Amino acid sequence: MATGKLGLALTTREILSLVSKDLEKVEQEFRLESVASVDAVSQIAQYLQGNGGKRLRPIMLLVSCRLFREPSPEAIRLAAVVELIHTATLVHDDIIDDAKTRRGKPSANVLWGNHTSVLAGDWLYMQAFQIALRMRSFEVLDLLITLTQQMVDGELLQLERIGRIDITEADSMELMDRKTATLFSACTKLGAIAAEATESEQTVLGDFGWNLGMAFQLVDDILDFTSRESILGKPVGNDLREGKVTLPLIYALQDASPGDRAKVEIVLKEGNYEKVAFGEIRGILDKHHGIERARVRAHEFTAKARTLLQTFNECPARTALFAATDLVADRDR
Ligand code: IPE
Ligand code: IPE
Ligand code: MG
Ligand code: MG
Repeated sequence: MATGKLGLALTTREILSLVSKDLEKVEQEFRLESVASVDAVSQIAQYLQGNGGKRLRPIMLLVSCRLFREPSPEAIRLAAVVELIHTATLVHDDIIDDAKTRRGKPSANVLWGNHTSVLAGDWLYMQAFQIALRMRSFEVLDLLITLTQQMVDGELLQLERIGRIDITEADSMELMDRKTATLFSACTKLGAIAAEATESEQTVLGDFGWNLGMAFQLVDDILDFTSRESILGKPVGNDLREGKVTLPLIYALQDASPGDRAKVEIVLKEGNYEKVAFGEIRGILDKHHGIERARVRAHEFTAKARTLLQTFNECPARTALFAATDLVADRDR
């Protein structure tokens, strides 16, 4: 990565300046569309919207659209749709993971309980489909429904694998694909669809988003070991505590001693860092370069994403998509 912290800040601003007006409309759309007849649902949606979030998925959709033309009202609506879907998955994910914090605040399940939150998540999904339905596009509906099913598949697969130390690199990649890359791919492809780009352009952008999404989830798994809660807005060391062996640890375990493996097993079994401290796990990762190896992998995905972008003519939107690949790979939250 050539740019330092300041460089990163500038590239973020560069991307945002391109779509900041569009994003204001997306926020408005999100607010309008997340009003339910039951107060709790509206409250949960507005609570999560108000707590921030990077809005990376709508941004990717809008910038992808801007490769070809200015986003139409439909593109704005689709950007709200993908953020609604993302919000629904977060609400459900936090129930499943029994997470206490999201976006630096108590998660919805903590404030409203599991029962209300699960229904609010369902409502948000359905609202997303309702909005998409208004476009009368089977192509878009098919894409959104397939995507949502794949994300649910991903969460189910992850549940099946909870607590297992024998997770392989391929298992882990499969989860990243289902949980995250599929949504990123849908976002960039939808941007191209909204812009009425050709089918091959849609495919290339879909592949670009997929590679970006893989890198994004890989970095999420790295940050779970390396970041701080105050920056991340969610606890660190959480994946292993929740029974999830992610790629940095998979790589480290390939060379780890039986003693080190046993320590990981203990955290998996206990679901806390009381017998084996988080620092010890970090030590195992450092010893076997687990983080570094995962970072190399993340950079391979962003490099592939950048190659795909070469097919498009140079323009501000393409520059912003290039910048997004750096941002995703080197982000700290
Ligand atoms: C969190 O996504 C879920 C993952 C795919 C890791 P983000 O990190 O984009 O969450 P927000 O929207 O910015 O809070
Ligand atoms: C992210 O999974 C994918 C989702 C569908 C939410 P994670 O479990 O890694 O997400 P975080 O770390 O809780 O945000
Ligand atoms: Mg989670
Ligand atoms: Mg995570």
